[in-house]
Amino acid sequence: MPNYDYSDALETVSFLRERLPFTPVTAIVLGSGLGEAASIIDERMTLNSSDIPNWPCSTAPGHAGRLILGTVHSRPVMILQGRVHHYEGYSLKAVTFPVRVLGMLGTREYIATNASGAVNMLYRAGEILAVKDHINLMGDNPLTGQNEPRWNERFPDMSRAYDPEMLSILSEIGLKQSVYAAMPGPSFETPAEIRMLRILGADLVGMSTVPEIITANSMGMKCAVLSCAANMAAGVDPDHTLTAQEVLDAMRDAAYKLSWVIEQLIDIMNRSTKGA
Ligand code: HPA
Repeated sequence: MPNYDYSDALETVSFLRERLPFTPVTAIVLGSGLGEAASIIDERMTLNSSDIPNWPCSTAPGHAGRLILGTVHSRPVMILQGRVHHYEGYSLKAVTFPVRVLGMLGTREYIATNASGAVNMLYRAGEILAVKDHINLMGDNPLTGQNEPRWNERFPDMSRAYDPEMLSILSEIGLKQSVYAAMPGPSFETPAEIRMLRILGADLVGMSTVPEIITANSMGMKCAVLSCAANMAAGVDPDHTLTAQEVLDAMRDAAYKLSWVIEQLIDIMNRSTKGA
């Protein structure tokens, strides 16, 4: 069992450097049920996570566990199909290990996607939102413990953890900006918890991504999160029973629209980088 520390990451980085024909500038993480969105990439090579030393492998439904290297609108990209979650029993060091490896490889942008429940009553199931900030209620932080200064400083700033430039592109594309509350799961929230989250200022609730953003931001990567509100959160419809299957179905339905959003984001980023 790896410790998911700096030396484990070095081993994984050297394994990948030996095999990857180029370094991905942008990483795109596809959440539950969104595997189909990987079709946006002009694929150069695919690795199974289970073949990569120290890589944490998912047990969650809808998570394929593949790394796909290629280009999107000529930009060198790595798509990570599947992530591991805290609720699977993984430590946040394990959950964020892929982020550490990407940061060490030299990846500059970290674009994550996820499924969420809509806390904001003005949203509707199936909508895709841009996350502009978060509230970490997981009860843990991936940077807890002895600090590794080669990775990040002890107290990283979080004021611009969600890259303002990518957020403004996403607004331009027509996405609303949302506050995402991270809960530990794996049970869905209670109606009272959802009312609490609404009072706290959350628009969305989910069980992932926040540890990845804390880590990626601490390493200086620019981050964006696209969240698909798969369902209205608990209690919005008192007669409705939430199921994992309905979340997966909503995500599969959203995959095409999400692919379009990611392609637009990268296309516009390419143009603004070239203009710089
Ligand atoms: N709560 C937490 N996580 C989720 C939800 C939800 O309602 N829907 C999809 N992921």
